[in-house]
Amino acid sequence: MENFTKEEYSQYAALCECGLRIVLTRIENLRQEAEIFSAERNPFYDIQTRIKTYESAVNKCLDRGTACDIKALKKLHDIAGVRIITLYKDDVYSIRDALVRQPSIEVLEERDYIANPKPNGYRSLHLIISVHVYFSGTTRSVPVEVQIRTQAMNLWASVEHNVKYKNDAPSDEAPEMFARIAGILEEFDENAMRLRDNNPCN
Ligand code: GTP
Ligand code: MG
Repeated sequence: MENFTKEEYSQYAALCECGLRIVLTRIENLRQEAEIFSAERNPFYDIQTRIKTYESAVNKCLDRGTACDIKALKKLHDIAGVRIITLYKDDVYSIRDALVRQPSIEVLEERDYIANPKPNGYRSLHLIISVHVYFSGTTRSVPVEVQIRTQAMNLWASVEHNVKYKNDAPSDEAPEMFARIAGILEEFDENAMRLRDNNPCN
């Protein structure tokens, strides 16, 4: 099979973007519901979206050691991505539950890197969900990656990602430092929930 062209990528990414908008609307509706019914305990802190660039999709196929053809492209389940940031760890799971119990949302994969952090300390809940998109005269199933994490997890991941990709020669101390800080942030997330629940104002 031929490598996918930039134009073919744009077309497929547009389909994925339609799926992303559907998922984003569901998430924004949940946020609005929370604002109405539990304003002081709204689990949504921030919602971010992104569509993978052509270069990044090609690099991912190369990293996977596969050809950069249409078949490989359709196996990339994170062309459309949404990230939900919460203040508290238990909010991660309440948002997951509220999202996946909705009709017409199929969970293709769930990876819980909060219960099982990566060896480097990365924590986050990852879902690949599939939604139906009516596009170009047909209905297609489109995958969307949803990452749900606390602000503390997001802080760690943002800096770790930046250091990893901005540095050709990362320092020897980086892995040890990130692992240690991940442990501190984990403790922070646990204590934050405890303090929230002890506070009579909540
Ligand atoms: P890729 O990592 O994207 O090749 O896919 P995968 O199928 O291995 O999924 P995985 O669950 O490992 O990661 C998907 C996404 O989670 C990545 O694209 C990142 O956004 C994020 N992620 C995973 N691991 C790390 C990590 O160690 N550090 C940071 N900063 N982000 C990570
Ligand atoms: Mg990975």
